[in-house]
Amino acid sequence: MNAHSSLAVAEPIRPVEAVVTEAAVAAPMVRFESLSKTYPAYRDKPAVAALKEIDFAIARGSITGVIGRSGAGKSSLVRLINGLEKPSTGRVIVDGREISALSGQQLRLAQRSIGMIFQHFNLLSSRTAADNIALPLEIAGWSKADIRTRVAELLDLVDIADKHDRYPSELSGGQKQRIGIARALATRPDVLLSDEATSALDPQTTRAILDLLANINRELGVTIILITHEMSVVRQLAKEVVVIDDGRVVERGHVADIFTHPRHPTTQTFLAEALGDAVPVSLASRLVQAPTAIGQSVIRVQVRGTDAGDTLVARLARELSIDVALLSARIDEIGGQHVGSLILGIPGGEAAARQTLAYLTQHRFAAERLGYVA
Ligand SMILES: Nc1ncnc2c1ncn2[C@@H]1O[C@H](COP(=O)(O)OP(=O)(O)O)[C@@H](O)[C@H]1O
Ligand SMILES: [Mg+2]
Repeated sequence: MNAHSSLAVAEPIRPVEAVVTEAAVAAPMVRFESLSKTYPAYRDKPAVAALKEIDFAIARGSITGVIGRSGAGKSSLVRLINGLEKPSTGRVIVDGREISALSGQQLRLAQRSIGMIFQHFNLLSSRTAADNIALPLEIAGWSKADIRTRVAELLDLVDIADKHDRYPSELSGGQKQRIGIARALATRPDVLLSDEATSALDPQTTRAILDLLANINRELGVTIILITHEMSVVRQLAKEVVVIDDGRVVERGHVADIFTHPRHPTTQTFLAEALGDAVPVSLASRLVQAPTAIGQSVIRVQVRGTDAGDTLVARLARELSIDVALLSARIDEIGGQHVGSLILGIPGGEAAARQTLAYLTQHRFAAERLGYVA
């Protein structure tokens, strides 16, 4: 750990990798073994190495977030889990079976135990809610009577029993995703893959859908793999997180550990976005890079860990006799740890600013000067 990421935490953190491995090795639901996927060159398009040497396991019954930027390889990973794509090298094992080696009827049977939900819901517009949910059951050859009973059960489960006869065009985004979830769970899968399933929804609906997924995980024990480009989604739902960047796993571990001690720059960027470490617009518009005659130095302090930083302003004032202004603060609690940042205004010229930075560093807070305000 370098000086900038070792923050105000009294005790050493547990090694993140070891914790995941312990939990997953017992009986992983999904295991990737030296998995690589390269899409071959096509016409004028060069070959794309979408996934490179992916090696990790997803524990049975867990909710695991897989986060990465657009193009990182997330959807490719999803299609490899449900056997829609074959690896270029390596293997994908789902529930003890090498799905990457199956084809035909065997593959179709295995796919019944892997449900999937999508960003744009992928409902058939010509079918009612009930008939959309019935589709995988029809394909699996269920009787009409069994389908009727199961569909009613599923509509109840996702809390839209009254929408039985509605068409997708008559439903909100959240209701459509509930139908998507019911359809994905119809054949009682062990795994639910969610590929950006809340990306088209507003924050309030997103929260409701994530709550529903949490209930499903708890009550049915379904392993959920949550693919997203939003750290806020991972944080609301997942216990484990895997960060992928340019086709590689760059970081993974417990959500609380990753949030408090992100190591990879990509993770740090995601966290900054999710936690509002970004400078508020009103402040950013006033920031200048040259000292102002009578103004303040602007310093951002990261708060990560058990030291809340909530007494920091008072400590600075007391111990340095500096009249510190709190320009912005955003601190969340994640897994019992405090995570966020404070933006401080330090009056009194360069000497006071340098003194403050030295004090913060000495007390193991990561701090940086953002500029000056008049
Ligand atoms: N079927 C495909 N054929 C060729 N290239 C693809 C195909 N699917 C994805 N890719 C490429 O693979 C990379 C990873 O894509 P994808 O898995 O969709 O990432 P993500 O879901 O994280 O945005 C991208 O460069 C994308 O253009
Ligand atoms: Mg994608």
